[in-house]
Amino acid sequence: MPDAPLILGIETSCDDTACAVVDGAGRVLASVVSRQIDEHRPFGGVVPEIASRAHLGNWPAVSAEALARAGVDWADLDAVAATRGPGLVGCLLVGLSIGRAVALGRGRPFFGVHHMAGHLVSPFLDAEGGPAADLPARFTGLIVSGGHTLLVEARADGAVETVAETRDDALGEVFDKVGKRLGLAYPQGPIVDRLAEDGDPAPHAKAFFVKTGRRGRTAAKADAHAAYFTYSGLKSQALRAIERLERSGALAPLPPGAIRAPEDLPSEARDLLAAFRAAAVDQLVDRLTQHHDRRPVRCLAVSGGAAANRLLRRRMTDWCAARGIDLRLVPLTYAGDNAAMIAFEALLRHRRGDAGDDPRSVEVASRIPLDATAAAG
Ligand code: KG4
Ligand code: ZN
Repeated sequence: MPDAPLILGIETSCDDTACAVVDGAGRVLASVVSRQIDEHRPFGGVVPEIASRAHLGNWPAVSAEALARAGVDWADLDAVAATRGPGLVGCLLVGLSIGRAVALGRGRPFFGVHHMAGHLVSPFLDAEGGPAADLPARFTGLIVSGGHTLLVEARADGAVETVAETRDDALGEVFDKVGKRLGLAYPQGPIVDRLAEDGDPAPHAKAFFVKTGRRGRTAAKADAHAAYFTYSGLKSQALRAIERLERSGALAPLPPGAIRAPEDLPSEARDLLAAFRAAAVDQLVDRLTQHHDRRPVRCLAVSGGAAANRLLRRRMTDWCAARGIDLRLVPLTYAGDNAAMIAFEALLRHRRGDAGDDPRSVEVASRIPLDATAAAG
């Protein structure tokens, strides 16, 4: 028997239309995600206008399936949660408007949820459908997605303090751009990761480096360095290395917009991707280590779409094991965008006595700092 309250989650911040039902114990009774891969593939990336129209079209089937799988009816829902930002405004508006209408129509509380707050707590969800784990009083969060790369200190009472965020590109975004330059089809990140598994980073290791901010720098400078991520330099290094491969004849150049099947990528390009991926993950490990030296990490929760990265998962496992740190790696089902994490974040707010937001006035926002919402909620 599910526990009260039953919360409906809605997530439409980018290209996934998602609906979930989570119960009062944090059990995910249903989590349905409809990807829009075919719609965006001809363009090599997400087209906002197409994405918001697709959300409208997908919603009836996605929500009907979520309720059917959960075995509940609209009347059984005790609260409604929808992502209010950050994300693509036209996309957010679809999910938030539906959520507001359901909450108002049924007279239920409404929670406008911060997308990154959802990712942050997603590692505590149980992939087997059991109750969610309790949040520790304090934990460190590493959130890596297509739009964000964030290191935060979080508390079970909802307070969040940003330690480091990206100054330029996000980790997942760079995987996508490098894959796109190689002619790989959208979504490129997971394909780059898979191809990198067969590569040997050694021949290209010198072409990629991580700015550590340690050697020969003053403590103050090293501190400033630890306080941000930067991926645009790594992206340029990768793009230049691809150009060199093309000039050497090892990689056939493609006409603009042409798609290359992953199996057609030569081993030299897989080696390059392996070195690129290693440097991308090294930077995360470097910043984490610097943070841990100053403020010891006790529990590390790793989340976001790019937390599906195989090397990242192995390196985080080793890094935490070597230091006796309690690692919470997001289950693969809840790494990418989903609505279970949105409903779960609303449940945590409800447990803290938060009555929710006024559905008549809550608005979407393309950018919202995570610290600000946590303090308010
Ligand atoms: O969290 P998410 O689903 O959406 C955002 O909120 O951005 O993250 C999607 C991002 C995309 O950039 C995607 O390419 C990346 O996560 N991603 C990966 C992998 N799987 C997904 N990046 C690297 N390795 C992967 N295995
Ligand atoms: Zn996301």
